Amino acid sequence: MRILLTGGAGFIGASIIRRLLARDDSVRVLDVAAKNPLLEPKSESDRRLEWRVGSVSDGPAVMDAVKGCDAIIHLAALLTPACAADPIRAAGVNVIGTLNMFEAARRHGLKGVLYMSSAAVYASDLRDHPHPDTHYGAFKLAGEGSARAYWTDHRVASIGLRPYVVYGMGREVGLTAGPALACRAAVEQREYVIPFTGPADFVYVDDVASAFVEAAAELGKGRSGASVFDIPGSTALVEDIVTIIQRHVAGARLSAAGPLLPIQMPAKLNDIRAAITNITRTPLDAGLKMMIDRYAQLRVAGR
Ligand SMILES: NC(=O)c1ccc[n+]([C@@H]2O[C@H](COP(=O)([O-])OP(=O)(O)OC[C@H]3O[C@@H](n4cnc5c(N)ncnc54)[C@H](O)[C@@H]3O)[C@@H](O)[C@H]2O)c1
Repeated sequence: MRILLTGGAGFIGASIIRRLLARDDSVRVLDVAAKNPLLEPKSESDRRLEWRVGSVSDGPAVMDAVKGCDAIIHLAALLTPACAADPIRAAGVNVIGTLNMFEAARRHGLKGVLYMSSAAVYASDLRDHPHPDTHYGAFKLAGEGSARAYWTDHRVASIGLRPYVVYGMGREVGLTAGPALACRAAVEQREYVIPFTGPADFVYVDDVASAFVEAAAELGKGRSGASVFDIPGSTALVEDIVTIIQRHVAGARLSAAGPLLPIQMPAKLNDIRAAITNITRTPLDAGLKMMIDRYAQLRVAGR
């Protein structure tokens, strides 16, 4: 398949590109950034990877980028702090950008749209249904509703995913970058305080990439409807992350301090693995160890 991947210059985009190329798919990236610093030269030079610099809020650019593609994986978005700082500008990217994807999929008769929602659709106080109290979460929930409307009105099929904290090598900016920054600091023998505490769900980035790739195959086989799934990883305290890293890196000077994360996931989740098979699930200990090993390799290589 040829997949249009928006936000391919980002943290999760790098994992998805690697996985799609490993499956013999072709990838066309649409991103405001011109390259992904997390990609290795092998992926960057692969002829099946095509790059378009442009914004998802630019309707004609999206329409053009979708030409010749079979499906869309839509990741591009502004994250929680940017949405809070300028909700109107952020809506142009997160809301209009998502509508542009569905509209282009409809006009070009694509098999469907895979898109990134977020556990931010839930609330900071425990509820059993989505009730966002951030602009970011509200925009993600709007995307889910529009996905259902595109199925009802035009039979554009879709699958959305709601991860909580996605962690992995290279996730070094954003509210929940603590696990990667802690692994890096431990390897570099620096002190680091993860700036939040309490429980959260941590899903390894390659598992999210695996979910998108398997979901794309499902749409390719003609799956119908507008589905939205949670993708649980490991529920743990931030303090557990500190303990695990300290078990792998002797003498690591790490701690956690600060507020709870502003999302509480309901106990009953709609786990994507119950609906779509072959999606990987990496235990937290193994995911953190892979990050530590990778940061150690980069350190040896002097990067
Ligand atoms: N990282 C997490 O913990 C997490 C959790 C839940 C959901 N998500 C969602 O996953 C997706 C990817 O997140 P990420 O962690 O890789 O973030 P990221 O910031 O690393 O990547 C986002 C990408 O979107 C691009 N982008 C921003 N505005 C754009 C625009 N107008 N047009 C085209 N591209 C644009 C950026 O250049 C960047 O490459 C987002 O939709 C995010 O909301 C992330």
